[in-house]
Amino acid sequence: MTDYAAGLDRALQALHDEGRYRTFIDIERRRGQFPHAVWTRPDGSEKDITVWCGNDYLGMGQQPVVLAAMHEALDATGAGSGGTRNISGTTVYHKALEAELADLHGKEAALVFTSAYIANDATLSTLPKLFPGLIIYSDALNHASMIEGVRRNGGAKRVFRHNDVAHLRELLAADDPAAPKLIAFESIYSMDGDFGPIAAICDLAEEFGALTYIDEVHAVGMYGRRGAGVAERDGLMHRIDIINGTLAKAYGVMGGYIAASAKMCDAVRSYAPGFIFTTSLTPSIAAGAAASVRHLKTDQALRDLHQERAAVLKLRLRGLGLPIIDHGSHIVPVHVGDPVKCKMISDRLLSDHGIYVQPINFPTVPRGTERLRFTPSPVHSPRMIDGLIHAMDNLWSHCALNRAKAVG
Ligand SMILES: Cc1ncc(COP(=O)(O)O)c(C=O)c1O
Repeated sequence: MTDYAAGLDRALQALHDEGRYRTFIDIERRRGQFPHAVWTRPDGSEKDITVWCGNDYLGMGQQPVVLAAMHEALDATGAGSGGTRNISGTTVYHKALEAELADLHGKEAALVFTSAYIANDATLSTLPKLFPGLIIYSDALNHASMIEGVRRNGGAKRVFRHNDVAHLRELLAADDPAAPKLIAFESIYSMDGDFGPIAAICDLAEEFGALTYIDEVHAVGMYGRRGAGVAERDGLMHRIDIINGTLAKAYGVMGGYIAASAKMCDAVRSYAPGFIFTTSLTPSIAAGAAASVRHLKTDQALRDLHQERAAVLKLRLRGLGLPIIDHGSHIVPVHVGDPVKCKMISDRLLSDHGIYVQPINFPTVPRGTERLRFTPSPVHSPRMIDGLIHAMDNLWSHCALNRAKAVG
């Protein structure tokens, strides 16, 4: 007989042995006080903390307009949607959200999923059904949800070196010119905060007759005149066939989507199991997300303040001589390069200074590139930045880490 418990023990022990076992920090955000939150320690005691690693990049998770829309929908319709999109789960809230997103990206249509992970996985795993023989060219550092979608689809895949358009060209040129092709990449890679070469990829796609698929998860809400992302900022949105985004980061709520032509959305809607066979988003979530998207179409001041806070934090960290990775985005990684010290700094920041930043270790990033990844937002005040800078200065010295030049 199989000893299932022993199997689980082995699997968990392997993670402990490799130093990859994850423990979650138990925090509770308080409405109106983010980035302040309360940390419940393992012994049950509580401590006030400041969250420095969240993806509620603009603080929209507590924006009154968003909360009002959610309350209103909750009171009007109740808790859940009650069904899949096909069977009783399509509401006016879902339709309104999709219309808002299609308009945001200047596309004919949009399709909402329960998360951007599912949107990536479901769409990329479905496309070969729509285009038999499809070859997908995928950036080496694409998010797990894209990798999973491409892996599961049974079609051909080529992985090009991160942001290396010369390598991508080589791969495209080596394949049958008549084969259907799609290039999948991101506009901002979340671990380094670097940008994808959108224009160069669109040029190659045009030359080789490929479709383009961009993940703007770490950009929507924050870049572009109306918050549609980096492709909007760079005037390239019309050259992208499928845009993927999340409603859970800068928009502060939950859910994910693709925006594309009406035909593309219709086909994915009709063929993707990850869209079809799951309960649709709760109406209050759809309503809150739509309110957030609508709000950020015009709140340029919030986007500006976000960039300003990120710039100040980078300047201050650089002033201490800490090795930040700076590619000009809002994400601020500080390179530690040692998993034990990375975890130690993170632990001490939390326990001694009430500053929460999760250590980013292997396998999320390659060994030797362990880092602390800070995500300043408009609600991180100059005073909070001061506190962080003093704490980092002390701990860096305490851990005898080098003060080096910025990378990027
Ligand atoms: C690049 C990228 N794509 C997709 C996702 C998934 O987004 P969601 O949280 O909406 O599932 C993430 C989440 O961290 C991400 O970093």
